[in-house]
Amino acid sequence: MGKSHFVLFFCVLFLVSFINNGAMAARKTPDGSEQWGYVQVRPKAHMFWWYYRSPQRTNDPNKPWPIILWLQGGPGASGVGIGNFEEVGPLDTFLKPRNSTWLQKADLLFVDNPVGTGYSFVEENSLFVKTDEEAAADLTTLLISVFNRDKVLQKSPLYIVAESYGGKYAVTLGLSALKAIEAGKLKLKLGGIALGDSWISPEDFVFSWAPLLKDVSRLDSKGVEKSNSLTQKIKQQIAKGQFVAATNTWSELETVIETYSNYVDFYNFLLDSGMDPVSATASELAQRITLKRYSRYLESSKALPGGDGDLDTLMNVILKKKLKIIPKDLQWGGQSGSVFDALSGDFMKPRINEVDELLAKGVNVTIYNGQVDVICSTKGTEAWVEKLKWEGIKTFLSMDRTPLYCGHEKLTKGFTKSYKNLHFYWILKAGHFVPVDQPCIALNMVSNMVH
Ligand SMILES: *[C@@H]1O[C@H](CO)[C@@H](O)[C@H](O)[C@H]1NC(C)=O
Ligand SMILES: *[C@@H]1O[C@H](CO)[C@@H](O)[C@H](O)[C@H]1NC(C)=O
Repeated sequence: MGKSHFVLFFCVLFLVSFINNGAMAARKTPDGSEQWGYVQVRPKAHMFWWYYRSPQRTNDPNKPWPIILWLQGGPGASGVGIGNFEEVGPLDTFLKPRNSTWLQKADLLFVDNPVGTGYSFVEENSLFVKTDEEAAADLTTLLISVFNRDKVLQKSPLYIVAESYGGKYAVTLGLSALKAIEAGKLKLKLGGIALGDSWISPEDFVFSWAPLLKDVSRLDSKGVEKSNSLTQKIKQQIAKGQFVAATNTWSELETVIETYSNYVDFYNFLLDSGMDPVSATASELAQRITLKRYSRYLESSKALPGGDGDLDTLMNVILKKKLKIIPKDLQWGGQSGSVFDALSGDFMKPRINEVDELLAKGVNVTIYNGQVDVICSTKGTEAWVEKLKWEGIKTFLSMDRTPLYCGHEKLTKGFTKSYKNLHFYWILKAGHFVPVDQPCIALNMVSNMVH
């Protein structure tokens, strides 16, 4: 499988199709195993998508083959780059096959969402999305464009799998897509939603940081005290609807925690941040520093031989040649600061109600969390889950967990429990990027979810 991708990569003949009076430009490999394109989701706002068909795809009408839509976080981080080549796609950044790719279990659809992220772009700065709902509306337009013209894809249940900030898009998109399906505008079957280390309740996460880091010796009482005054401030700002101010206080809180923890890695409390404080100019916002670290963390964790593996070169040079349709002057970046800034009024808004709505509608919601994540800690996730109003929550909370193992190893890799349509996975020895840290258990989990 990996090998054929590798060969196709260099000798593909491209087919071009322009559909919907030019609103969509799409291409595919001759065998159709890969398709990609731009959808103009609003005038002058262009979203890039890339679909991979699984070599394992089956044609059983009673068990339709699933598709996973991967939503990266940030906000402004590129799913087409990071999620695809660094986490779950068929090839790694050296273009070597990834043996833990989720493509074994489902077709994969990557998008650079929201517009302005990665290969997606806007022709005017006023067109960046300012809320999760606006992002969901654009994504729904993209799904209409990709699915309504393809009878094969329509038969496949779509699972929306999110990481980090992507969780907020996933739940708003879930509701928006269901509405479009009910209105007959979108030809799609929603299979379920998975929230991996997802920023669903910012308040619960910021409240979890200091106690968690104190418990594992990474903060002292003074660090906790300094953090507490800021978390109280954030709570008040959120209560008053001062969301931009809350985003700024969040950024201050990260700086306090970095200082008192001697730069703990926000994506894994067992590590130090890979950040280089010298390179950040004094005028840069702390949040900008944090964001840069997001993509750097993944890159630093794979100093492997056999190529340079540099995501920037891959996206800006090698893939531009393959994909043909990326505008020449577009500079791919792992993390867009403009996209983040445009969402700063929504960044601290919770999306717990949206999870409740999805649960009430009977949609399968899977939550998974890495044990050593800080930014979207398990402690914070458990706190917002306890706030759900869904009828099954009491029973869910009272249930015992089942231990998880992987392969031939006897070691406990995690725990899980399910009640009705709510499923939770605790993944041990994993930080923010679960599929990278625990590929075996992540693949098992995805397999259980979609089959
Ligand atoms: C997949 O590759 C990793 C790293 O190259 C290796 O450690 C692991 O054993 C492989 N897993 C399988 C199932 O082949
Ligand atoms: C939810 O998932 C379970 C299995 O995990 C499945 O039996 C059920 O049909 C799913 N429900 C919906 C509404 O998709």
